[in-house]
Amino acid sequence: MRRLFAFLLSFSLLVPVPTAAQAPETARAQQGMVVADELFAAEAGIEILRQGGNAVDAAVAVAFALAVTHPAAGNLGGGGFMLIRLADGRAVMIDYRETAPAAARWDMFLDQEGNLVPERSTQGWLAAGVPGTLAGLDLALREYGTMTLNQVLEPAIRLADDGFPVSDRLARSLQENAETLRRDPESESIFLHDGLFYEPGELLKQKHLARTLRRIAQKGAREFYQGSITREFVEASKKGGGLFTLADFRNYRAVVRQPLRGTFHGYQVITAPPPSSGGVALLETLNMLEPLLAPEDLPSEPQTLHLVTEALRRAFADRARYLADPDFAEIPVAALVDKGYAAACRRNIDPAHASVSTELKLPNPLDFSHSPSEPAGAAALHESENTTHFSVVDAEGNAVANTYTINNSYGSGITVDGLGFLLNNEMDDFTTKPGEPNRLFGLVQSDANQIEPGKRPLSSMTPTIVVRDGETFLVLGSPGGPRIISALLEVLLHRLLFSDDLALAIARPRFHHQWLPDTLFLEEGLYTGEQIAALRALGHQVDFRETVGQINAIERDPSTGELYGVADARRGGAARGR
Ligand code: DON
Repeated sequence: MRRLFAFLLSFSLLVPVPTAAQAPETARAQQGMVVADELFAAEAGIEILRQGGNAVDAAVAVAFALAVTHPAAGNLGGGGFMLIRLADGRAVMIDYRETAPAAARWDMFLDQEGNLVPERSTQGWLAAGVPGTLAGLDLALREYGTMTLNQVLEPAIRLADDGFPVSDRLARSLQENAETLRRDPESESIFLHDGLFYEPGELLKQKHLARTLRRIAQKGAREFYQGSITREFVEASKKGGGLFTLADFRNYRAVVRQPLRGTFHGYQVITAPPPSSGGVALLETLNMLEPLLAPEDLPSEPQTLHLVTEALRRAFADRARYLADPDFAEIPVAALVDKGYAAACRRNIDPAHASVSTELKLPNPLDFSHSPSEPAGAAALHESENTTHFSVVDAEGNAVANTYTINNSYGSGITVDGLGFLLNNEMDDFTTKPGEPNRLFGLVQSDANQIEPGKRPLSSMTPTIVVRDGETFLVLGSPGGPRIISALLEVLLHRLLFSDDLALAIARPRFHHQWLPDTLFLEEGLYTGEQIAALRALGHQVDFRETVGQINAIERDPSTGELYGVADARRGGAARGR
């Protein structure tokens, strides 16, 4: 490969290896590890492990705690994906993605001329799908946990009832999102202090949320989907102009899906299947890059960045063409993650020139049946801290990678009256207008992802577990919408191919390309002028953004069981072990 790039190599020798972004600390432990976006939630997970809970019990407790302590993304009013790999090797993904209400229509965000109505898919009741979080957590606990809802809800109820000191980060985030929160009186009354901002260190108590959590602890998840919480929710929705009915809640199901499995240089990569696009795109890019990059290549060399970008461009083009809720659309998943298909895609990567996204010609995946040797399983681009990923591993080696969200920070901005939790704005992840980018992430998507009653919007969330020698080796994931895929891919390349240790793999500068817009986004301030010039010389349209993802990961030494936890320093999370 290096020979192919001789001319570029001579150029790149001038380029210093960029210093990594602030290197996060690595927590070490033997008995269990939780890496989450917020400290009290990470500690809630450790508390449950100490009480004898397994990784799933701890993960469910972390999710409930984040719904209290990290309201920008932690939630009861949203949805997500929980990837579980048990110590005996069984792996499942619990899909608790939101669904469109039965009254939703493909053109519900368009005006009479067929134009997207600004903010309709992101603000207010119409922007929300039926929340799946509680159904997912309940299912995970019943099938794979050992404790009761009552037990794992305990830390969250305490945090909501007694309050917790607002961190610098939360104080800043509440301030930055005050406009969203002020639009809804209920949100304003919770997240602003008599109209003023919370100061770091002040206690934030959430009495309504505590009461809702207690009702769930006492009566179970039924209370949320077929009980008095449902009635209050639907009532509030009617008042607010939403579409939700009791039947939408009664019909909601979290689904156990087979995760996708691929291989990369001898590692097995277990990851999220549709309705996430993440696993398909991750395996597709890893497959394209496997023979293209060598361990001795430098992750900072322009030609490495170029090749990874070209792989991302192709995988995102396929995302746009094919991916959607598998219960509503035929998706050629096995073909897309087939190594033969990747080889065909790779053939039109030009090592010396950036492709032009609008002219990209990709092979037809349907020409590639997946090879039996492959164990394939079944631009409003601003950064905010929406979505949260946490990873948990227990002493036995059971592992959970969970990413869940209310979409952008504080979701639709609406707190359901009297219930104390924020509502998602996940409807914007659908194809809100055919052929046009969606509002929050600038993603162009196909008709396969258009709005239909009961359908799940296409996601990019990619909780992932890497297995080495039959044992869990890495557990990781990220927020960031489509940037999740780029962040995951790059960290896996750094760790699995370039042999960085986990902290360095996460700290290294990252970049993102999503086919359209045809722009290569580099993390601001982390790339040298020479690298940027080299990328531009290759034909890339370079732009900058603050961060690409926030990886919260655990590495497990398969031979000793030792655990290493790393929370990405980009936003600052917490790794706690025991
Ligand atoms: O499911 C998705 O892909 C998006 N709703 C996730 C949103 C997200 O990650 C926002 N984070 N910055």
